Amino acid sequence: MDFELKTLALAKAPSQRCDLLVLLVDESFVPGADALSSLAAVALRHGDFKARAGSLLQCYAPPTITARSVLLLGAGDGGPVAVRKAVLALSGLLKAGVSRHVVFAFGSAAPGPDAIGVLVRCVAEASYVYTTTKSKAEPRALARATVGVPDAARVRAAFDTAVAVVAGVEFAREWANRPANHATPTMLGEAARSLARHAGISCKLHGPAQVARLGMGAFMAVARGSSEPLRFIELHYQGGPKAQAPVVLVGKGITFDAGGISLKPAAGMDEMKFDMGGAASVLGTFRALAELRPKINVVGLIPSCENLPDGKAVKPGDVVTSMSGQTIEILNTDAEGRLALCDALAYAARFKPKAVVDMATLTGACVVALGAVRSGLFASDDALAAQLLAAGEDALDPCWRMPLDDEYADGLKSAFADVANVAGRPAGAVTAAKFLQRFVGAWPWAHLDIAGTAWKSGSAKGATGRPVGLLVHYLLAVADAAPARRRGK
Ligand code: BES
Ligand code: MN
Ligand code: ZN
Repeated sequence: MDFELKTLALAKAPSQRCDLLVLLVDESFVPGADALSSLAAVALRHGDFKARAGSLLQCYAPPTITARSVLLLGAGDGGPVAVRKAVLALSGLLKAGVSRHVVFAFGSAAPGPDAIGVLVRCVAEASYVYTTTKSKAEPRALARATVGVPDAARVRAAFDTAVAVVAGVEFAREWANRPANHATPTMLGEAARSLARHAGISCKLHGPAQVARLGMGAFMAVARGSSEPLRFIELHYQGGPKAQAPVVLVGKGITFDAGGISLKPAAGMDEMKFDMGGAASVLGTFRALAELRPKINVVGLIPSCENLPDGKAVKPGDVVTSMSGQTIEILNTDAEGRLALCDALAYAARFKPKAVVDMATLTGACVVALGAVRSGLFASDDALAAQLLAAGEDALDPCWRMPLDDEYADGLKSAFADVANVAGRPAGAVTAAKFLQRFVGAWPWAHLDIAGTAWKSGSAKGATGRPVGLLVHYLLAVADAAPARRRGK
């Protein structure tokens, strides 16, 4: 869908040709003399409409207004959280399919950059529909959204960032939503390759033979039960000088996690198609980088395979040798994400990274700890943690810092290898992070456990595209901190 931003005085809004004209009205609203604010003033006076976030009143437009219909939308205090609540209240309407072109206008003080960013992202979220594997696809009804503000220049940067985040989130949602037979490791590799059409992006795909040559014994062990060939996907975005150390993003790309020989129960197992949510967030972030062209270098690494039971599958008790040389006793084949990731983390060393951030739907324990609201953040470096926490707040894609005390690693001791791949049940999200930490070099490292946030279960089942927003905001902040100008365009 297309977003456009333009300068639009409220008095001019009534002449906008569109299906639906939405007027956001916040609690500081003081009606002017124009047709739209008069309409809002009458509705407010009679109590049919409130400025509370999410309150809405749709009316057929009076003759003075060109739009087919007008919708008054309460925007609370006008801040990002209230604007999100308001726009998500439109979800049913935006999905219902009667409005192809919607214009948004503001009844009160000029909206800030944060509110504009949230508006764009939430309009996209509220109107998104998945169609790929439906035979009678009803594509997204909303084709065009116009955001009219008193001064477009003031919010242009936030608007552009949000539009790029939307492209990235939708790319991530598409790939995470696809069933595992429509998103195999090979297909994920092709999706990555398709991103390399954009300027500044290149892609290398490593197959089973190359991965064996690299000595990724942990990752290979996961793939052994599946007849789908594994892929190790390597993406490069170059926006800065060649010599500049990159940020490396690593995404867990298990396209289906049945648990392997440590088989999962049947109920809800379909949701393990989302176990490549980390990989999807790397792909989505590169999609956004293609739009924004910031002056930084970024490497994306995705170990991708299926985790299935089979006669050839790795067995509990098997010991494998990881790329780092450390041997691992695989006590539970369902703790496969860390096995795939540890070899990718070791591979990251060759880039002498500025920082490494991995994203993984890693543990059910993280869902228990934090639910679907915040992703779990583990970081070896306080400055990196602070940057990621701030980016999460900015993007309304928040995370929460978790501990990494060495005592949490005690349970990973093994009698037969350097380390075991599982500890006991307590603090399962932390012990998983402690396992990963063993494979990280001397650079700042962070791990985002997105098991609770990458998708929704139940009637709204589907991928969220998180944490693409967090990652894009983080990378833009890194680029802004560099001496060069941010935008390379
Ligand atoms: N992909 C799962 C984690 C997961 C489970 C995410 C449920 C979202 C919802 C991961 O590979 C896994 O199976 N983890 C195990 C680890 C355990 C065996 C130590 C888990 O969390 O149960
Ligand atoms: Mn698993
Ligand atoms: Zn998994």
